[in-house]
Parts: sequence; structure tokens; C-alpha cells
Amino acid sequence: MARFGGLPRGGVNRQALSAEEGRARRQLAAWAAEQGFTVATDAVANLFIRREGSDPTLPPVLAGSHIDSQPTGGRFDGVYGVLAAFEVLQALNEAGVVTRRAVEAVAWTNEEGSRFQPGCLGSGAFAGRIPPGPALEAVDRDGIRAADALEAMLAAEPDFARRPIGFPVHAYLEAHIEQGPLLEQAGVPIGVVTGVQGSRWFAIEVTGEEAHAGTTPVRLRKDALVSAVAMVEALRQIMVDPEDLVRFTVGRFEVHPGAPNTVPGRVFFTIDFRHPDGHTLKRLGDQVEAVVRAHAGSCAVRIEETFTSQPCVFDAGAVAAVRDAVAGLGLPSLTLASGANHDARFLAEVCPAAMIFVPCERGISHNEAENAAPGDLAAGARVLAEAVVALANS
Ligand code: GLV
Ligand code: MN
Ligand code: MN
Repeated sequence: MARFGGLPRGGVNRQALSAEEGRARRQLAAWAAEQGFTVATDAVANLFIRREGSDPTLPPVLAGSHIDSQPTGGRFDGVYGVLAAFEVLQALNEAGVVTRRAVEAVAWTNEEGSRFQPGCLGSGAFAGRIPPGPALEAVDRDGIRAADALEAMLAAEPDFARRPIGFPVHAYLEAHIEQGPLLEQAGVPIGVVTGVQGSRWFAIEVTGEEAHAGTTPVRLRKDALVSAVAMVEALRQIMVDPEDLVRFTVGRFEVHPGAPNTVPGRVFFTIDFRHPDGHTLKRLGDQVEAVVRAHAGSCAVRIEETFTSQPCVFDAGAVAAVRDAVAGLGLPSLTLASGANHDARFLAEVCPAAMIFVPCERGISHNEAENAAPGDLAAGARVLAEAVVALANS
């Protein structure tokens, strides 16, 4: 899979709804066909690979994650959970196991949100929490609409069966690299994940006036960069947190027109703000607009909250299924909450959901250097297999 969108330094750039992602989907479908599984998609291009159960009328157990990546992403974030789920289906075939419920491996569309905001489009739409219509109006840096990229993707897959967005699911499990340092530090192969912290994303557009850098006195300038820098600094001040629980990131900062001798007339930047506590998420997030406006100076400002997700606690029964699987396999584990967002956060709105983490080297993720040990990845897949089978027979 890492060949689809592979980068010279070993990572991947496999953007949501891109040609690279399309080729990766084709590969998954080919593997599915070899195993006799059925492949289906829906109107937001979520991809489902189904291994039938003895009672096809029962809601299935789903396991998966996403195969889109960050622009300089690693080889594990997302795709590990999809391949682990596929491996579970294949192992069930090889062992001749019959489950009562069908088991489906799923790849959710646009989890990362790096090309089109918001992220988690596929799982959010599936769970009825993100209306696809407005989300698909998002455009990427090249001006391509998500709706058009989606249409092209689906048009290339006429052989995949079509399903409605959202259907009854018995339970959902997602295996993922931790993307942080805790498991590696504890020296354990498995994280039993209890929930996901909350996030709020904002898009800020600051509009000033382009002017000649050599002739325009400072007092007459409407310099969008100067205002934007003041905004970011003021936001950093309100986000100061001795406990180090607040996560505040400006990951995209674009200065227009980007010429050395033109006063910037427009700046666009993004805010990714997260916190495990819902009250703090609200209190600090609700200050963003006022702080941004207070530092606009002579510029106009447009603020949009592009994504909101409350902190989530996973279903006790689904977490217990993971815990039982870990115990049955005799694996050491750690119980932890997720700092990263995941599709499981949205599935948790419509069915019992839980996650399995495996360690990644130095906790590094969203980085081409992302790495994980084969033994840990296999351990995670084994836990997934045991938990999926237990749920599929329940
Ligand atoms: C997913 O990668 C996230 O932003 O947490
Ligand atoms: Mn991920
Ligand atoms: Mn990610």
C-alpha cells in the first residue's frame, strides 16, 4: 500500500479522493476478489469489504480506518487499521471460521482533512454527524471541489456495489498506531483505548490591502500578515496551559500574494485546537473569535469553525471486548485515551465502538519517519481478530 503515493523519503502522500488513493482502493478490491469477499461503496466513497456471516440479515461487525494520508504522511497512520482488518477477514477464511454476523473491513473517506476540510467526512457522514452536501463544497489548494474529486473516484469504480450512507452496525473496532509516545515508553505492545479527546478546527481569513512595499508608509498599510501574526500570538497566550493538556496548532499559514515587495493583502490560516475536557474545549474555543477580531487592526477578518468534535468515551462493552482479547492472548497492555482524532469517534455515535493502539517509534506520526515494529503490528491485528470474532458471534 505504501507504494501508492510513496515519497522518496519513505513516507506517503495519498490524499483523500486522489488518483493515488483510487489506485490503493483498486488494490484492496483486487485482494478482496481473490478471497471471495464482496466490495461496496457509498455516495461518499466509504469502501466496504464484506465477509459473509451465517446469518446475513444481522447487522455486521465493522473494522477499519482510513487510507488517505497527510501530505508528508507515514506508512501506518490509517492504512494499518484497514490492512489489519483485511488480514482478519483473510485469516478467518484461511482458518475456515464461520461467524454469525458478517465482518466487514472498511476504509473511511477523507479522515485526515488535509486536502479537504473537515476531516472524518466518510465516518462523520456515515454516522449522520457531518452533512456531506456542505462538506463536499470544500476546495483543495488547486481549486478542485471535493464533490468533483468524489465524482471522479466513484465513476472509476462502476463495479463496486452501491450502498446507502449509513446502515445498522453491530459494533466497530479500529486498530491504529498510537501516534504518541506512551506505549513505547511503557514497553507494551497494546493500548486499550477508552475514548478520544475533543477538537475544534477554525479557518481564518484576514483581508487587508496589497500595496507597494517601498513606498507605502506603515500608517497607511493594511498589512494582513501583521494582523495575522498578532492574532496567532494572542491566541497562543490564551492557550497557555501549565498542565500541557491544551493542543493548539496553526498548521497552515498562507500569505498572499507572496511577493517580497508587496504588502500582504490576504492571509489564510488554520487552527487545530483540542482538549480532553468538554468544558475547557468550549471555554477556550469560544474565545477564538473575539481574540482574532481584537487583533484585526485595519484588516477585515472572516472566521469559520470547520470542524467540531466533543470528547468521547467509548462503549464499555466494546472496550471490554478488546480487553478480553488482550487478556486471552496474554499480551501486556496499557489503558489510555486518544489524543488524535479517529473515525471510531464518529462510529461511536451509532454503535458500540473501541480502538486498539500499537506503539510507533518515538511516538512520531504525521511525519514520513513514522515507523512501527512488525511484531507490535501483528499483535494489534491478533487482538483485533479475537475481538472481532467475539463481537461477530454475539
Ligand atoms: C487525525 O490525524 C487527527 O488529526 O487527529
Ligand atoms: Mn489516522
Ligand atoms: Mn492522521
